[in-house]
Amino acid sequence: MSVPILALRGVNKSFGPIDVLHDITLEVRAGEVLCLLGDNGAGKSTLIRILSGVHQPSSGSIEMDGAAVSFPSPRAAADKGIATVHQFGGTFPLMSIGRCFFVGVEPTKGWGPFRVYDRRKANAIAVKAVRDFGITRIDDGDRLVGGLSGGERQSLAIARAVHFGARVLILDEPTAALGVKQATHVLRIVNEAKRRGLAVVFITHQVMHAMAVGDHFAVLIRGAVAADFRKGEKSREEITDLMAGGASMASLEAEIESHMASHGEAAE
Ligand SMILES: Nc1ncnc2c1ncn2[C@@H]1O[C@H](COP(=O)(O)OP(=O)(O)O)[C@@H](O)[C@H]1O
Ligand SMILES: [Mg+2]
Repeated sequence: MSVPILALRGVNKSFGPIDVLHDITLEVRAGEVLCLLGDNGAGKSTLIRILSGVHQPSSGSIEMDGAAVSFPSPRAAADKGIATVHQFGGTFPLMSIGRCFFVGVEPTKGWGPFRVYDRRKANAIAVKAVRDFGITRIDDGDRLVGGLSGGERQSLAIARAVHFGARVLILDEPTAALGVKQATHVLRIVNEAKRRGLAVVFITHQVMHAMAVGDHFAVLIRGAVAADFRKGEKSREEITDLMAGGASMASLEAEIESHMASHGEAAE
């Protein structure tokens, strides 16, 4: 097997007296989707915050391409090609698609004090990039991001990360609040990112979504990797049981309720 792009080796994380992650070892490879499964509170977000430079491990190490690295800040992780897309795409509803795509790296025209944002160029590049990604409903870079559906926003954020050279794409519950059609759209975009050779870390507690894109699965229970397996090695029922094994009945009920509420809201 190839050298993983990104690996955690024996990572622990505590916040003061609270131990959140225990001895996590995981590998993420180019052209593969690693699905991180686990109930609410299992430590999924903490884990990806370590991968994206928001938190530092209390002990253990992070490797990229086989060499030890540290991500003292989100910027440091981003500079090494790790892109994190948060739920709802982390975008700005009142920005145009072109502006949002280039936020922080706007193309300009003119010179010196006459330098201005090149709207036409930004729009043309952004629209082409998202359409190449299969998001064919976007054809006008002046449209406001707020007018896009949840799935389209996620897809825009993913296309943006890939366009600007991300090697590892971390998606924290990208399909959690979406209806079936929108979720399918996002899953298709995830497959496209994988086809382009990115390593994807896909966090979800929806087993069906994980099975639709995952090559490799890790189930987190109370901060530890309870199972680590590859596509085809476990059935849907086995994965569901594994995940439920870590949950108390009360938190399971709360999850079902919030799941139903979010699906109700996202119905389109
Ligand atoms: N900054 C923090 N300080 C103390 N406890 C935290 C902090 N961040 C997360 N936790 C705790 O760590 C556990 C895992 O949280 P989290 O990583 O958000 O889980 P998940 O994303 O799987 O739902 C929870 O019990 C949460 O309360
Ligand atoms: Mg979380």
